[in-house]
Amino acid sequence: MVTAVAQRLAAQRREINDTLARLSLSSENLQQVKDKMRVELERGLRKDSHSTASVKMLPSFVYRTPNGTERGKYLALDLGGTNFRVLVVKIRSGIRKSVRMYNKIYAIPLEIMQGTGEELFDHIVQCISDFLDYMGMKNTRLPLGFTFSFPCRQTGIDKGSLVSWTKGFKATDCEGNDVVEMLREAIKRRNEFDLDIVAVVNDTVGTMMTCAYEDPKCEIGLIAGTGSNVCYMEEMRNIEMVEGDEGQMCVNTEWGGFGENDCIEDIRTRFDREVDEGSLNNGKQRFEKMTSGMYLGEIVRQILIDLTRRGLLFRGHITEPLKTRGIFETKFLSQIERYRVVRAILQQLGLDSTCDDSIIVKEVCGTVSRRAAQLCGAGMAAIVDKIRENRGRNQMNITVGVDGTLYKLHPHFSRILKDTVKALAPQCDVEFVLSEDGSGKGAALITAVQHHRQPRSDSIFCGFRWYALPEGAAAAKGYKLRELGNGLCSDTNPTATVKMLPTFVRSIPDGSEKGDFIALDLGGSAFRILRVKVSHEKKQTVQMESQIYDTPEDIIHGSGTRLFDHVAECLGDFMEKQNIKDKKLSVGFTFSFPCAQTKLNESYLLTWTKRFKASGVEGMDIVTLLNKAIKKRGDYDADIMAVVNDTVGTMMTCGFDDQRCEVGIIIGTGTNACYMEELRHIDLVEGDEGRMCINTEWGAFGDDGMLEDIRTEFDREIDRGSLNPGKQLFEKMVSGMYIGELVRLILVKMAKEGFLFEGRITPELLTKGKFETKHVSSIEKSKEGLTKAKDILGRLGMEPSADDCIAVQHICTIVSHRSANLIAATLGGILSRLKDNKGNPRLRTTVGIDGSLYKMHPQYARRLHKTVRRLVPESDVRFLLSESGSSKGAAMVTAVAYRLADHGNEYNALEDFS
Ligand code: BG6
Ligand code: BG6
Ligand code: GLC
Ligand code: GLC
Repeated sequence: MVTAVAQRLAAQRREINDTLARLSLSSENLQQVKDKMRVELERGLRKDSHSTASVKMLPSFVYRTPNGTERGKYLALDLGGTNFRVLVVKIRSGIRKSVRMYNKIYAIPLEIMQGTGEELFDHIVQCISDFLDYMGMKNTRLPLGFTFSFPCRQTGIDKGSLVSWTKGFKATDCEGNDVVEMLREAIKRRNEFDLDIVAVVNDTVGTMMTCAYEDPKCEIGLIAGTGSNVCYMEEMRNIEMVEGDEGQMCVNTEWGGFGENDCIEDIRTRFDREVDEGSLNNGKQRFEKMTSGMYLGEIVRQILIDLTRRGLLFRGHITEPLKTRGIFETKFLSQIERYRVVRAILQQLGLDSTCDDSIIVKEVCGTVSRRAAQLCGAGMAAIVDKIRENRGRNQMNITVGVDGTLYKLHPHFSRILKDTVKALAPQCDVEFVLSEDGSGKGAALITAVQHHRQPRSDSIFCGFRWYALPEGAAAAKGYKLRELGNGLCSDTNPTATVKMLPTFVRSIPDGSEKGDFIALDLGGSAFRILRVKVSHEKKQTVQMESQIYDTPEDIIHGSGTRLFDHVAECLGDFMEKQNIKDKKLSVGFTFSFPCAQTKLNESYLLTWTKRFKASGVEGMDIVTLLNKAIKKRGDYDADIMAVVNDTVGTMMTCGFDDQRCEVGIIIGTGTNACYMEELRHIDLVEGDEGRMCINTEWGAFGDDGMLEDIRTEFDREIDRGSLNPGKQLFEKMVSGMYIGELVRLILVKMAKEGFLFEGRITPELLTKGKFETKHVSSIEKSKEGLTKAKDILGRLGMEPSADDCIAVQHICTIVSHRSANLIAATLGGILSRLKDNKGNPRLRTTVGIDGSLYKMHPQYARRLHKTVRRLVPESDVRFLLSESGSSKGAAMVTAVAYRLADHGNEYNALEDFS
């Protein structure tokens, strides 16, 4: 007897186990789900397979995640999840960056969800009306962001036609229609208030944006709630349904539809089919029906009915409650698994259970929710691996923003989901962040971006996205470090793009320099001649007098002979005015171009850069050329003792005041840096002791293609129109000669696309060089910037609106900020090298800086300093502006050269210069 009972129980147990085994997925099953999901993702993205793909991959027209500049007051609607919400969201940017929200939940009765479209939208508008009354905001025409959590085919951020209802909605006359239009019409029908509907957003996209506002690594949005869905940032070049290849766009996968083409029939069970058949959309959303809150309870109920029918549960009685569709809500599933109160809950549902029954029910719930979490995990593994491959990375860190009641309330769902992703995508380190504020905040952030008239500008900006990222800056730093090494070795120097030129300057001023010198300063925005007197009574003092001379274009683009004749003529004029034509003074020549030096006063021009292009000079020693021109005149004599690059002159000028200065950088017409390197690392110069200043010529960084991933179409256009195409690519992204032009090109493109100036372009705006870097500096001034923008554009014949001015200011910021970040990255490379050379755990150093962009731009210096300090954390870096140009430094070099030449034997510091 006992054995008979035991045998019956064992047989029953086996039957239950068999039933549940069909819902348990092996790791092989999960791997297959991942692979199939990947296939469907690709099919959804491609034009030829899009229409038949079960994962629709809908473009969202959201081009970037928030960057903190969003601001304003917005209304948001959140429709399609458990709750319908109306919200007002206030966003502040800058140092007071914050988001404040007020919201009210409204019910949507079933008869409205499944009534006519007009009734549904009238109801929505009625709720908005109530909310506006409640907030006292009926008279302000607020911009509105609409989270609409159903598949929409979008053609713009504010246009989306409903593909098909999902979950519990089934209102008539909506599918195929534009939901924004339907909402506008309902507002018109009510005729009580007006709203500016700016954006329609899926809840996954809203959620991603909400989370990305806090964590810039968040590039995926997941909903595990009533429905199930994911969005992520995809490369534009992969989204064949949208024109354009640059940058990224968020894609709403609508993965709930996965399997509609029968590709997962092997793992669907008869319970899943039963649930599908009883749903509002039979045959559709098959993956969603296995994974989301709206259906898990139903799957459980189907299994319970089956087990009961077979006499394995509830003593074989199928009661009324068990027959009731929807009785088993997901929250009960969560509660059953969270608390050991199965019987009480079953009782609440009107199901009378034994102790054994409750154990079985709990097992069923566990199996169903476990499968759901694993399936989501397998899908997510496909997504993260796709993103990783897009970026050509071996390993990747990424954050997923998540929302939804299933994820939030279920005790095990999130853990199983994470474990599955980890097992199936081991090359990705995926962090899940819960969205605390719902998707309405994200919808408002998207609305903010739109509202400030950067809709398409965003698509244009996406190429610029990189700069804002500190990782990007760090990556460039990495590049840079490698490059630095290459330039210094004799075998790689000829092919290295960053030339690392020895300068034969071996120390900064020591305070003993003196004399009366002439300095020439050629190659920056002004050509200057100076007289520098360094006297030494008690204290070293420097007196300078200077004059600026013209360098007309026909001269700098003419023959080399003419150029040097001009320099000699100006020098003659200067000496005449100074009354020193009869003296033979020593001359220090700041010549701000890349030169191969063999000694201090022998310097061969490698190639012209910036605005210069005089013929017959490249490859020549410029000292010889200038001497020849002076001799030809015969009216005065001069002794050219030293040629220095402007970076070196700047380092020496600053070194005069601060002995710690060992780096010189220029951020002006061009950009470049020099620094003190250990002689033992410099193969090209004999000797191992001490240091020598190296002129890096970092402007050429990227000439070997190393910056291609971050160069934009505008950078390419600048390069094509320049005097030296294919050369100085880094310089062309960052320095003063090009920044204004970059902004102009972006403005032209945006105007052409109708996103600025109502599509109007004047001939002036189309003229190269009309938008100057100094304009960028004025427009970025915090107080008067927008007025300046209006003035400057006005002078170009434009009539910008207030929104245009804001957009132009934003473009200026993006371009100048990128410049500062890139310079910070390369300077970071040099500082790290200095630090390695010194072998100290902390680097204390001073960087001497000059150049008009750095000096005149209102934010540049601050941004640069901040990023450098972030990139080179263990350091105390002082940035010292060179107040007196590079010539004082050139005079210091000349002083030492003079001393060595004339009185060499009297000094022990002979090794100072070779
Ligand atoms: C909310 C979001 O928090 O979560 C909604 O604001 C989203 O936009 C919802 O639809 C999803 O979860 P559930 O469980 O409500 O469907
Ligand atoms: C000046 C230096 O102050 O700055 C020059 O004296 C240097 O030597 C120049 O070339 C760089 O800045 P810009 O903006 O004039 O190119
Ligand atoms: C359904 C909808 C989808 C939404 C998801 C989560 O799958 O089709 O648009 O994102 O539910 O709410
Ligand atoms: C260019 C020159 C370089 C100079 C820099 C700043 O990059 O090639 O020599 O230092 O401009 O003026």
